Amino acid sequence: MFQKNVSLKSLNTFGIEATAALFAEVNSVDILSKIVATHKDLFILSGGSNILLTKNISRPVVYLNTKGIEIVERKPDTVRVKAQAGENWHDFVLWCLSNDFGGLENLSLIPGNVGTSPMQNIGAYGVEIKDHFDCLEAMEISTGSIKTFTSKDCLFGYRESVFKNDLKGKFIILNVTFKLTVTKHQINDNYGAIREQLAIEKENSPTIQDISNAVIAIRKTKLPDPKEIGNSGSFFKNPVISIEHFIKLQEANDNIPHYKISEALIKVPAGWLVEQCGFKGKRFGDAGVHKNQALVLVNYENANGSDILNLAKKIQSEVTKRFSIDLEMEVNII
Ligand code: EPU
Repeated sequence: MFQKNVSLKSLNTFGIEATAALFAEVNSVDILSKIVATHKDLFILSGGSNILLTKNISRPVVYLNTKGIEIVERKPDTVRVKAQAGENWHDFVLWCLSNDFGGLENLSLIPGNVGTSPMQNIGAYGVEIKDHFDCLEAMEISTGSIKTFTSKDCLFGYRESVFKNDLKGKFIILNVTFKLTVTKHQINDNYGAIREQLAIEKENSPTIQDISNAVIAIRKTKLPDPKEIGNSGSFFKNPVISIEHFIKLQEANDNIPHYKISEALIKVPAGWLVEQCGFKGKRFGDAGVHKNQALVLVNYENANGSDILNLAKKIQSEVTKRFSIDLEMEVNII
């Protein structure tokens, strides 16, 4: 079942070279059950879009590549659609659009697979998957039993879920069901960049397809394509600071972008903080900071995981020194 010494370079979007001592590509839940019955220390690899490999992996690696999309419930206005974990996320979004199912269009072109989307509650342009999530099924590694998680069970937060915290490494997400609209689509064009893009295209009453097209156009200009240049999307989370802290920062930087979270809390874009520290577009060997979006670290060619991690730490320390804000990494460091 397992192959020995397999390169993971093409299976992580950073394009980092690392080896799995034992590696199995799994295409069915039955095979996964058999593996789980005998191995408890598995490393589950899916889209590889939110990891930074800093070393070879000695635990058995399971590359979950299960496929399938099915409509599990149809109502006049809504539909519930279940997708297997190994389905590519963007292909799934396109499938929904081709059926005119609404909800996920703002999440077009996000790298990764369906199975990892709930892990960090992927989000972009005003929508998070929690907004359209119905439930998921996951296999408990210790027992092999399959459990259903509702949205409440997942404890979704900003780039957070129970699977990144209390249940980290304990469950394997098998499939995810989304609740989507068939009629009365809710068009989510509040995000500034989307409105600007729609204005360029002179689109006044956008459809879900128009929103998807706009998001794809924006992502293509701002975010590097992992097939061309290794990256893992946003490397850091956008930090949330106290209003007092923010007012102090604003005195010295009157153009600081910000979003109000509550009366007491303000979110500041990490990309702006990193840019202010002079890192945008900078290259250190083969590791660098993307020229159009300072929140994205890139592997120009042959950087290893430590090169990227060292750059991330350097950025963290500069941001702390200058703004007294500790940036938290969004990417999982392995
Ligand atoms: N900004 C800069 N310099 C930069 C980048 C950003 O000054 O180099 C400032 C600008 O003022 C801009 C603001 O930051 O208006 C926000 O930038 P952007 O709209 O690009 O969004 P973001 O906050 O940097 C977040 C997500 C992205 C998501 C976009 C759009 C996080 C950590 N990142 O980025 O998610 O696509 O919003 O919704 O929340 C990802 O998680 O991998 C990811 C790409």
